[in-house]
Amino acid sequence: MATERLLSPQQRVPEEEQANFALRPERIGEYIGQRELIERLSIAVEAAKARSEPMEHVLLHGPPGLGKTTLAHVISREMGSRITVTSGPALARGTDLVAALQRLQPGDVLFIDEIHRLPIAVEEFVYPAMEDFRIDVTVDTGLNARTIQIKCKPFTLIGATTRAGLLSAPLRSRFGQTFHLQYYTVAELATILRRSCSLLNMGEAPDAALNRVAERSRGTPRIANRLLRRVRDFAHVKAKGKLSLSIVDDALTLEGVDALGLDELDRSYLRTIGNVYSCGPVGLETVAATMNEDAGTLEDVVEPYLLQIGFLARTRRGRALTRAACGHLGVVFKAQAEDGSGLFS
Ligand code: ADE
Repeated sequence: MATERLLSPQQRVPEEEQANFALRPERIGEYIGQRELIERLSIAVEAAKARSEPMEHVLLHGPPGLGKTTLAHVISREMGSRITVTSGPALARGTDLVAALQRLQPGDVLFIDEIHRLPIAVEEFVYPAMEDFRIDVTVDTGLNARTIQIKCKPFTLIGATTRAGLLSAPLRSRFGQTFHLQYYTVAELATILRRSCSLLNMGEAPDAALNRVAERSRGTPRIANRLLRRVRDFAHVKAKGKLSLSIVDDALTLEGVDALGLDELDRSYLRTIGNVYSCGPVGLETVAATMNEDAGTLEDVVEPYLLQIGFLARTRRGRALTRAACGHLGVVFKAQAEDGSGLFS
């Protein structure tokens, strides 16, 4: 399964959540990376605190694994408030949301992960709650139907999504601030890893070793910390727990993670297009059938990173490998379609 992948940016198992929790920064000052975002956020927090008001509603969007949930916790900690964590799919009915809203104390944070998956019927309850801290509940039916209004406490809604484009315009417009999380640089990931080593009591690790893990982490702290745990196990068994560049290399080679952070599934996808379909363009369904994989899985878990590093082009006529991808795989780059037209739309 794709979620079993070592390099999946998604959370894999509940135990991983626990392991990550211990490594998360709790305060703004401990947060590494996302500099511009952190600066804007610090100002918003400070200004709200100075006015003794809850912070404006915040929308966090960006790829999985970059720290949206962590940021929501950081915000609530900085505001000195409590946080209630839920998700779009968990709020199946309007009453689920009403119950959550009624439990909030003044200034609390309500964090809704995957907010793009909030059912439309539930979204209707969110609007007045966000705007006027009011819940409109319809009682009775037919001719007797009427709306009663219940007040809720002033709160901050923090919504997180990997797919901001799927949010309805009315919902999006009700957030006071929107923050986009970017992929982390290798230097930022190495700093995060150094902090994790210290929290995990791993002793001193050479910069080169941490940089090597960082380079293979796809710009994603969740992956970096996951690889670090694998490297730590390997070092424990092979080198009395001592991390070195060669131990990192050996551990990651054993895990099938290459110099760019690609794993066997990525390479098999690229090789299929390169070798079987002469670098493309080829339809995703065709690639999936050849690989005996699910097209949706390839689209969600394999393609995003390959697109990001410029190895894959999505054209009107299907998927095609770029020159860089062919270079990495060692296959001959073929000029694209026979008519050479309209490929990279
Ligand atoms: N652990 C995971 N992400 C982190 C971040 N952005 N800063 C510090 N520690 C982290």
